[in-house]
Amino acid sequence: MGKDKLKRFSQILTFGNVIQPKINFHSNDDDLKGNWSTVFNNENPLVLELGCGAGEYTIALAKDYPNKNFIGIDIKGARIWKGAKAALDQGLNNVRFLRTKVDFITKFFGENEVNEIWLTFSDPQPKKPKKRLSSKLFTDRYQEFLKINGVIHLKTDSDLLYDFTLEEIKSNNFKLLENITNVYKESYEKSQELKKTLFIKTFYEKKWLDLEKTIKYLAFSIH
Ligand SMILES: C[S@@+](CC[C@H](N)C(=O)[O-])C[C@H]1O[C@@H](n2cnc3c(N)ncnc32)[C@H](O)[C@@H]1O
Repeated sequence: MGKDKLKRFSQILTFGNVIQPKINFHSNDDDLKGNWSTVFNNENPLVLELGCGAGEYTIALAKDYPNKNFIGIDIKGARIWKGAKAALDQGLNNVRFLRTKVDFITKFFGENEVNEIWLTFSDPQPKKPKKRLSSKLFTDRYQEFLKINGVIHLKTDSDLLYDFTLEEIKSNNFKLLENITNVYKESYEKSQELKKTLFIKTFYEKKWLDLEKTIKYLAFSIH
């Protein structure tokens, strides 16, 4: 492992906006479940970005919505470092990063604690459908802590993940709220706010746009 990476791994432990469980990335020593309002010191709505990478969505949304709290979640320390450092440098008090696997997510959030979930350019997992972050295995987990009218947003370049998620929405009778097959060709007559939100570009999105991939978006609720 490179020296820089090791340095970043030890540095994130000193960042006030990063939570890194001490044992195997899933011990809940800080008793966070159900207690995020204490962490943020307010009762504002809570938004998660799962597989956040360097947290571009988390940071951009946190700037646009100072009255919501945002948590970027990823297992990769070097990526979390980038997002957390940027949030600290920009003085964003409504941002935290949690280093864990999404697989352990129910350990960290209590019933009705979360308002929205963003899945941004999640791995399509071509050979392992259960590992897709929009699979029933995962939506069952989200159901444990997402509010009744909570929204899941999925933004992807992957036809496989988009089609799979749409099928999951139908077969589980989830409520489809938005279905945009080309984010950058949509007219957005109804909502300039949605346009602004969907035009935020992550590291991976920029890569896929350079390759002229079409970016798709779904929003749905699962209760
Ligand atoms: C393709 S990258 C996308 C990163 C970022 N959202 C973006 O758009 O630039 C997928 C990210 O999800 C993370 N990831 C994938 N599966 C995960 C899991 N089960 N738990 C935590 N992180 C996961 C990876 O570490 C990686 O940073």
